[in-house]
Amino acid sequence: MIVTTKKLFKAAYGKYAIGAYNINNLEQTMGLFQGNLDSQAPFILQISEGSRSYTDKAMLEGLIRSADEVFPQSIFAVHLDHGDEETCYDCINSGFYSSVMIDASMFDFDENIAITKRVVEAAHAKGVVVEAELGKLGGVEEHITVDEADAKLTDPDEAKEFVERTGCDSLAVAIGTSHGAFKFTGSQGLHFNVIAEIQKRLPGFPLVMHGSSSVPQDEVERVNAAGGNLKGAKGVDASQFNRASTLGVTKVNIDTDGRLVWTRVHRELFLEQPEVFDLRKPGKIFMAEYAKFIAEKNGYLGSAGQLENVRQLVTE
Ligand code: 13P
Repeated sequence: MIVTTKKLFKAAYGKYAIGAYNINNLEQTMGLFQGNLDSQAPFILQISEGSRSYTDKAMLEGLIRSADEVFPQSIFAVHLDHGDEETCYDCINSGFYSSVMIDASMFDFDENIAITKRVVEAAHAKGVVVEAELGKLGGVEEHITVDEADAKLTDPDEAKEFVERTGCDSLAVAIGTSHGAFKFTGSQGLHFNVIAEIQKRLPGFPLVMHGSSSVPQDEVERVNAAGGNLKGAKGVDASQFNRASTLGVTKVNIDTDGRLVWTRVHRELFLEQPEVFDLRKPGKIFMAEYAKFIAEKNGYLGSAGQLENVRQLVTE
């Protein structure tokens, strides 16, 4: 069942966070739905601009509608990840997306507000909810690259003004994470003081944490042992999700870790079985491993086991 993120956030706020996972293809979609069902978790399915053009946006929509039929117990939101203004309008008008993210964080404060406000007005007129972004995360995400020197934590006072002036439904905040596999050097981690200050000014308002992959070291080692070359990668300690969710972080974005699962499965299989050329062999293993990965993440997020509670709330 496709629902809005607003309904999911209402159920989760202050108690746990909803996992927001990016998908690009059939195997990821199957693993995603299976993993959420196995762990009895509601979830947010994210589609990036890169994913929409990887095959065709219509192909993705068909895939997700079919998954909804194959897994009729699922409860999820369909969300555009990091959209520009034009892509947001396309998704809002499609009648398929229940949520969009307008990312105008590369513009100055007033310009970000003006663009976000226009998208909010168009979205709310069609019952679609809007995530916006304030502050700058470092790292690389598809078409967006932000140097660490340009990364900027969200200012709590600005966050309050931004939400009031735009009317957005949730806010992605820069609180020490970055996109991609190379996040932290040394012992850098989440800035809980900043999250707490934002929550103080915006009590009850859902915050979103991007760049939340953990980049597990054993996964990186397995990828490298099978011919990969991922150096110095380190991510967010998943045991910190809990504390973040009590401070209002209600949506946690995870993409890189899933890509690592894909890379490990395919590298290991082709190294160990060089005679294989049946694409379904790694595909089958990946779907099962991805489902396991999703269920584990939901355990850390606290969304595991919440499916029936959420069903009651959304069907009331
Ligand atoms: P990761 O690169 O840490 O997985 O973050 C993904 C993300 O924030 C998508 O918007």
